[in-house]
This record gives sequence, C-alpha cells and structure tokens, in this order.
Amino acid sequence: MDVYGLIGNPVGHSLSPPMHEAGYEALGLDARYVTFEPPADAGAEAIDAAATLGIAGLNVTIPFKQDVLAAVDPAPLAERIGAVNTVDFAGGTPTGYNTDAVGAVRALEHHDVSLSGTAVVVGAGGAGRAVAFGLADEGLSVRVANRTESKALGLADEVPGATGHGLGSLADLLSDADILVNCTSVGMEADETPVPAGALHGDLAVLDAVYTPIETRLLRDAAAAGATTVDGAWMLLYQGVEAFERWTGEDAPVDRMNGRLRERL
Ligand code: ATR
Repeated sequence: MDVYGLIGNPVGHSLSPPMHEAGYEALGLDARYVTFEPPADAGAEAIDAAATLGIAGLNVTIPFKQDVLAAVDPAPLAERIGAVNTVDFAGGTPTGYNTDAVGAVRALEHHDVSLSGTAVVVGAGGAGRAVAFGLADEGLSVRVANRTESKALGLADEVPGATGHGLGSLADLLSDADILVNCTSVGMEADETPVPAGALHGDLAVLDAVYTPIETRLLRDAAAAGATTVDGAWMLLYQGVEAFERWTGEDAPVDRMNGRLRERL
C-alpha cells in the first residue's frame, strides 16, 4: 500500500484526505492519505522521517512550506517561489514542488480562461507569490497589488515583467486587465472584499483563492459585473490534482475528486 499525506499544524480540517482518497478509489489504487501534525519547528525533520518510513508523497501546509525547502531538492519553480507544498519521495533525495502555482493556472484553464494579457494578483504572501510566478511563467503580464505596498514591490522585483502597487491603485490596474486573482485572506472571516466592486468589469476572469465561503463577496460582485468567476475550490482541487499526478503517474480522476471535495465543503 502507498501512503500519502499532509503535514501541517494544524491539519484537523483539511479537505485533502477525502479529495485524494476519492481519486485512489476511482482508479482502484491501493493507497491511503493521512494527516500528520509535527511540532511547528520540525518541518524538515518530518520530511526526513517520512523518507525513512517509506511514505510515498506528502503535501505541506502552514507553517512548514518554507522550512521543508532545507530537506528536499526543490524543482526550479518551487525554489523561485521559496515554498514547497508537495514532496515526492520516489528516487533518492525527496523532490519539492509548488503545485499552488499550477493549481491556479489549471483552475483558470478548466473555465476556458485564455492565459494571455494582463493579470492582477492581489496579495503578496505565500499564495500571492505562487500565483504571481505561475501566471508570469504562462506569459501573462503580472501586476501585484498588496495592502503593504513594499511587499508587492519586492515580489514584483523577483517575478519577470511584474509591477508592484498598493491596493489604492486597483481601479487603474484592473481597467484593462484580463484576469484578477485574490490571494489575500479577505472574504474568509467576514463578508468583505479587497477589491472595490466598481473596479470589476465584464472582460475579467476572477479567481478567488478563498474557498470558505465558496461564494465570496468578491465573486458575487464579479458575477454582477458580468465577469467569469472561478471559486477557490477549483484552485484547491487542481493543486491536489497536480500532486496526485506527480505521485501516481496517472491522470487524476478530476470529476470524482471535485465531487468529493464539494460534498465536504
Ligand atoms: P497566504 O500564505 O495565505 O498568502 P500570508 O502569507 O499570511 O497568507 O499573506 C496574507 C496576504 O493577505 C497578504 O498579502 C496580506 O497583506 P499584507 O502583506 O499587507 O499583510 C493580505 N491581507 C491579510 N489581511 C488583509 C486585509 N484585511 N486587507 C488587505 N490585505 C490583507
């Protein structure tokens, strides 16, 4: 049996186990997906321990995404982002990937969003970094807007062709943009949005990385403006699909994984 899992602290409410196990069931794979909660300072040790135990693959979440870089051979994109959310233990040294970036790209592709033109990424934390690099690698021109403008400028310096801004510039930045991705936590705790509704328009595709609630105020405003909307569960799904495919070498049964995920949300 192949054992996969997630390390994080906390991991109690993770939706990854049902999502991945729906995939194993659909393909008839003899595999399980379990959660582990190592102490907050033991991310790299946990990777070493998992390798010793013969665990086949791990997802990595807060607070370990940066720390585990020390224990893996990072793929180039994970190294540039500076964070790993997927570890593959096949072969010698564990390999670290960042599937959050590809997750956003595949979520947009699933909705037939053309990956060209200009993307506005709101947020410059972990999710913002992954999405900014991921979209720039697809050839999009990226504008990063963040509450703390200096962080947006810092990220823009690292991402090819990107520019950095404060949130006050959002209306200008969005006027001729094609894609908007919210990578802040705004909308999770309260019915709030980081983007003024008046800045949204019908030529935008809007992806919200927030998936609780599934319909955020940003997505409601975007739908009202005639924009294409992509909820955060698609990004969660496709970061998992990408990990599943790296680990198993099989095409993931996306519909089955999506169905199970949405049942549990
Ligand atoms: P994650 O890994 O989910 O990206 P993070 O690294 O803590 O989490 O980043 C949180 C992001 O949400 C940051 O861009 C943060 O802005 P700051 O860099 O200015 O802190 C943004 N954020 C959080 N609360 C916010 C709020 N109330 N308004 C605007 N942006 C907010």
